[in-house]
Amino acid sequence: MCTGRLPFLFDDNDSAPAMTEPSTPTILFDGTEPLGASADLQDNGKPFFFQLPNGQKAFVIRWQGQLHGWINECQHASVPMDFDGDILEGGRQFILCPYHGAIYQPDTGKCVGGPCRGSSLDAVAVEERDGAVWLKQG
Ligand code: FES
Repeated sequence: MCTGRLPFLFDDNDSAPAMTEPSTPTILFDGTEPLGASADLQDNGKPFFFQLPNGQKAFVIRWQGQLHGWINECQHASVPMDFDGDILEGGRQFILCPYHGAIYQPDTGKCVGGPCRGSSLDAVAVEERDGAVWLKQG
């Protein structure tokens, strides 16, 4: 039976991620508010999800100390990749699409495994200033 899970990518209790509806972005970004406080974006932790003014869903993560913003859309089937408010797999080394297992490098956005290997996520320019994370202007 196919459970849709990738056992080598999940640690701890041997359970697959819940295949729920994608998270609703908590911020409809209009350029006047930060995406969140810098202190709340933990290194290799969960992302901030947001929506661009054009409606595209996106996220920003801090990975190995650097911010990286990406459109939240798998290059395989154009679906959001988050599950349970997270975007990284259990080992915290790759962005994981839970649908068919595509894995992306968090810093380059390049797909390095799965059905869309060789493709890349679309970048979103982000920056950190005044203790907050912002969509980069200009
Ligand atoms: S939709 Fe992401 S791997 Fe298929």
